[in-house]
This record gives sequence, C-alpha cells and structure tokens, in this order.
Amino acid sequence: MHNKRTVQLMNDDKEYIWHPFTQMKDYAAADNIIIERGEGVYLIDTDGNRYIDGVSSLWTNLFGHNNAKITGAIKAQLDRIAHSTLLGLANVPATTLAKKLVEIAPKGLKRVFYSDNGSTAVEISLKMSYLYHMHRGDTVRTKFIALRNSYHGDTLGAVSVGGIELFHSLFKPLLADVVFAPSPYCYRCELSLEPDSCGMRCADALEELAKRHHGETAALIIEPIVQGAGGIITAPDGYLRRVREICTKYGILMIADEVAVGFGRTGRMFGCDNEGVTPDIMAVAKGLSGGYLPMAATLTTDAVYDAFLGEYSEYKTLFHGHTFTGNQLGASAAVATLEIFKEERVLERLQPKIELLTSLLEGFKEHPCVGDVRQRGFIAAIELVRDKAAKERFAPADRIGHKVIQRAAGQGLIIRPLSDVIVIMPPYIITGGELTRMMEIISESINHVLR
Ligand SMILES: Cc1ncc(COP(=O)(O)O)c(C=O)c1O
Repeated sequence: MHNKRTVQLMNDDKEYIWHPFTQMKDYAAADNIIIERGEGVYLIDTDGNRYIDGVSSLWTNLFGHNNAKITGAIKAQLDRIAHSTLLGLANVPATTLAKKLVEIAPKGLKRVFYSDNGSTAVEISLKMSYLYHMHRGDTVRTKFIALRNSYHGDTLGAVSVGGIELFHSLFKPLLADVVFAPSPYCYRCELSLEPDSCGMRCADALEELAKRHHGETAALIIEPIVQGAGGIITAPDGYLRRVREICTKYGILMIADEVAVGFGRTGRMFGCDNEGVTPDIMAVAKGLSGGYLPMAATLTTDAVYDAFLGEYSEYKTLFHGHTFTGNQLGASAAVATLEIFKEERVLERLQPKIELLTSLLEGFKEHPCVGDVRQRGFIAAIELVRDKAAKERFAPADRIGHKVIQRAAGQGLIIRPLSDVIVIMPPYIITGGELTRMMEIISESINHVLR
C-alpha cells in the first residue's frame, strides 16, 4: 500500500516524465518506486521503504548517499558561488580538481578539458583526436576504430562508436565512419575460439583492421578492462596493453573511455592502471563527482594539446564547450571525492570486499541457468542462460533480467540488468553484511523467476 502523497507523485511521474531507456507503455502500467532520500548504501522511497543501491545509482556513487564530506563540500561551495563560466575565466575548484586529476591519472596525461557527462567527455575525445591529426596537416583521418559491444554514450558521436545493435543500429544513417573490431568476449567468442588456446586472436584481428585502415583513422576508442553496458564483458589479461601497442605502432590515437571503470571500479584507480597503459586521451565522468553531480573530463597529453596551439588566425582553437563546463559545484564534489580516496585509503580498503564478492559469486556458478560469472575488482555480472551447455539465451520477450530485478526490488535491492546479465556494482562503502545480503537477494530472485 502506498501513502496518498506517493500515489499522487506516481501519477504525476507517469503523466509528465519520459524516462530514459524505458518503454513508457510498460512503465505506465507498473507500480514504480519514487526515491525521496539516500543514506549511505540505501535509497529510501516516498513510502519509507529502504533499498540497497546495488548499481550505485547507475555506476556513479562511490561513498554512499549523503556522504558528509561530499555534501559538506557542495554546500560550502554553494555559499561562495554555484557557477560561473569557464569560457575565458578560471575558477577555484575546477583548477584544484584539474591538478589533482593530473596527479592521479596515468602518467603523461597532463591537460584537463571539462564537460558534464560521459557522452560529452567521449564526444570531446573524438573531436580532439580528429583535430589533432588535422592540425598537423593529416587531413584524411576521418575514421575511428571501436569494438563490438562497446558503449560510449548517447550523443551522436558517442553512438557512432557504440557497438550494441539494440541501442545503436537504428541511428546508423546519422553516424560517423567507424570500423568495428571483435569484442574480447571470451564466453561468447566471435571467432569461436577458447580462451585457453586462442592466443588472443581477437587482438590480432584488431591489429589487422588497424593495419588496413590506419592511414584514414584518427583514433581507436576502448572501454579499458571491462566493456560495461555491452554486458560487463571482461577482457583477457594483456588485451589492453596489446591495444596500446597497436595504436602506437600504427600512429592511431588511443582513447580510453574510463567513464564506467574509472575511480577504483576495477580495484585500481583507472582501468588503464591494471596494465600500466597511458592512453593519448582519457574520458572520465560518473564516479568523478562521487556520483553527486554531473561532472566529466577529457584528459590528454602535451603532444595532443600542443597540436592546438597557434596564432588565433590559424583557427586551431578547440571550438567546443558547454554552458556548465567546469561548474564549481561539480568540481567541489569531485575534489572532495578525490580527497576521500587519499585520506581513507579507499583502494586498499576495497580489496577485502573485492575478495568477499569473489567468494559470494562462487555460489552462483553451479546454477543451471547461470552461463557465466564475470568479475573485475568491484564490478561483477551474472549472465543468465536458458541452456547452459549450449549457452543459449532466453528469448528477449521473456525479459528474464527485468523480472529478476523486479523481484529484487521487492526484497529491498535496486539493481539493473543488461538484458539477461545481472549487474553487481554497489558503492564502495557497502559493508560485508550488506554485500552478503545483496547477493542473497539476487540468488533468491533468480531462483524465484526461474523456478
Ligand atoms: C563506458 C561509458 N562511456 C560513456 C557513458 C556515457 O555516460 P553518460 O551517461 O554520463 O553520458 C557510459 C554510461 O554508462 C559508459 O558506461
């Protein structure tokens, strides 16, 4: 039973809001949750029900809701100023943040270009790489290389380099020229090989593409270590290093889209750190502000930055910017977030939780409908299948993943699936007990739906 206010809000929500990635016909018929407050790892709805935030509010929240340090920093900033433009003006928190970002970024990334979400950080990466070649007199590099199953956001440039049929194919007539390489998806290898004996043929295939197209390619874009929205697809060890080598060998800029994996998700500060890789350009968002405010950045090297320097009349200026680029509130949340990483030794203290997650996932592997269990650091996924031996998927219309998360919500856990892949990505402050409870709810929900 909902209270009167909840009923009114539910009706108004259905009447006025068009929700993202949502079939509104289904949404209009459903009993939807309206979030009112957050407390640590919990989301609290307008009826007072509490839910574990098992997807960190779409992979953003690191240190829980209503974190005293982050909210304190935002409130203190609000008393000074909320926003002034970064076009031709500097501001205090954006400057402090840029310096801190460069300190922790893979060595060699030295310049920070701000924006306000992951898609725009990617969009800027693509434009930067294209113009880098252009300004150096190489005017034919108009293509990009991306991976199948990749997701880089929803603006048209980002969609161009997206490799998920369901999300991206309808937009094809509107998109840039992109060549797609195999996804390093060992469980469903596109090349029909086995991980133990394949010799990473998918990387060879990528190299063949780079060899064929490098003269006309500006950049290769990759989600390091984990392809997120494509299904939490974990790349084999050494794959990312190999990508770096290929880009260097063929003079293609490497763009690392760290929007999902950056800020500790893989157990290291950045996905690239797992393999000692410095990309030429790196996009970050989501966890940058601890999940509090829309804030994003594109980092790059001196080599890329320098290509844009010249007399004004040469028009090498990067003609790109957003109204809220470098916003003070977002930047102050991000500064507080990075301070927490340092002061609270977050990555070190996350390791036992990563190990606990590994052991909790063990229990799922024998389930007859669990085809694959994947984990890198504090990201994990359970891929549900109809036939384990044949790796046969459920029919999309069965909406198994959706049913599992609905059941979980009824038990006090908010998660979101990627088709029939159940994603596990809680805030870092989750306790061992809460993580255990979360995995129990997922187990119960899978069993309930597939009983
Ligand atoms: C790897 C990656 N890149 C880019 C984006 C787009 O970010 P945003 O939704 O903030 O535009 C996402 C979002 O999930 C992502 O996972």
